[in-house]
Amino acid sequence: MRKYIVRGGTPLYGSTGVQGAKNSALPILAASVLSGGRCVIRNCPALSDVEATLAILRHVGCETLREGGAVVVDSARAEGSEIPEPLMREMRSSVIFLGALLAKTGYARLSAPGGCEIGLRPIDLHLDAMRRLGAVVKDDAGVIECRAPDGLKGANITLSFPSVGATENIMIAAATAKGETLVVNAAREPEISDLADYLNGMGAKISGAGEGTVRIRGVSGLHPAEHTVIPDRIAAATLLAAAAATGGEVTVNRVIPAHLEPVLAAFAEAGCDTRIRGDAIRLTAPARLKAVSTVRTMPYPGFPTDFQAPFTAVLTKADGASVVIETIFESRFKYIGELVRFGAKIRRDGRMAVIEGVPRLYPAGVVTPDLRGGAALVLAALSAEGESEIRDVRHIERGYEDICGAVRALHGNMEAVSAAP
Ligand code: UD1
Repeated sequence: MRKYIVRGGTPLYGSTGVQGAKNSALPILAASVLSGGRCVIRNCPALSDVEATLAILRHVGCETLREGGAVVVDSARAEGSEIPEPLMREMRSSVIFLGALLAKTGYARLSAPGGCEIGLRPIDLHLDAMRRLGAVVKDDAGVIECRAPDGLKGANITLSFPSVGATENIMIAAATAKGETLVVNAAREPEISDLADYLNGMGAKISGAGEGTVRIRGVSGLHPAEHTVIPDRIAAATLLAAAAATGGEVTVNRVIPAHLEPVLAAFAEAGCDTRIRGDAIRLTAPARLKAVSTVRTMPYPGFPTDFQAPFTAVLTKADGASVVIETIFESRFKYIGELVRFGAKIRRDGRMAVIEGVPRLYPAGVVTPDLRGGAALVLAALSAEGESEIRDVRHIERGYEDICGAVRALHGNMEAVSAAP
């Protein structure tokens, strides 16, 4: 068990790079199973969720190797098609392997992800999509079995919600299906386009990724490829938030600014000055942040649910009352009780949080409820003058690569120490 000690109250300043996108790396690694050879994934972040994904790849017979920032996956001998429950429990989004294993071996067996820290994680859209592609799906007491012994067949699939994971599963499964697949109301997140670029690099024929309707023309097989993962827009936004929360000025380099547009608009409404120069974004905080009218999480290109908690932490010291509405996941406000320990004034009503800005936060000892909620606590601790302690940081390390190092590079004071269990 590790905890973070944060000595906050000083503005963060300086410039830094950002890790590769976790939410791109995970489906890209899963899709590597289909290459039948040695793939190189560059800019692959060092995160426990990536480790959990590599453990699944090894379980199904891949060889994996980390070489600096790159991960090599060799699937030449990958024959497995089952993911045991402990590996599924390690990472709820491992359902992303469903399409890859089914397409590769004609069979996939895994346990249902069940509930997680941010709420139920239903996979009905994934399963319906696999059925549409011709698989026979059995969901028996939490064990999912999919069979397509004669291979998958292209289909027209309209998603009732633009699910990121379901869109990715369909793209991976349909890449080698017979015929053409059309995904209507597909998710448009940048990570969808990144996965499509990777699959196309492996010989797939996918068009329209990122545009809402994705067309996948099935090919007979994929080959190994090399790919560089896009920068992580949520990690970049969190670093900018560290400047906003502490009254500082931070430049994040090597990002794709267009991916951060909805977030930058919210920062601007809060009175921050944001400047884009090439692939760098600089955020300068005002003397006091302004409250924002309503921030509502939406599928991309809306305000990302993954940045809801960090942005709420920023608003705790704004002048006035802000409203944040979470529309994607039902249990994404667990961190609010912990933020209140810093002196934040937040009322929660179902999927809505009303944040009454306070002039200052006070140091606190808090427990991390989930990944992005944990990032919110780090931001609050950085803005509270004095020493705070953040416990159970394993959630944070699922998604943020060396967050202490990143904060220290921006002249903040934060360290990880071992904590008694
Ligand atoms: C991905 C991201 C996660 C992000 C989320 C929304 C990864 C690894 N994770 O998660 O960080 O917060 O997108 O941007 O990329 N739903 C169903 N049935 C399904 C699938 C989803 O009802 O079969 C619902 C979910 O409960 C949720 C909503 O759809 O309410 C969005 O989920 P989805 O877009 O699928 O998120 P993930 O792919 O799990």
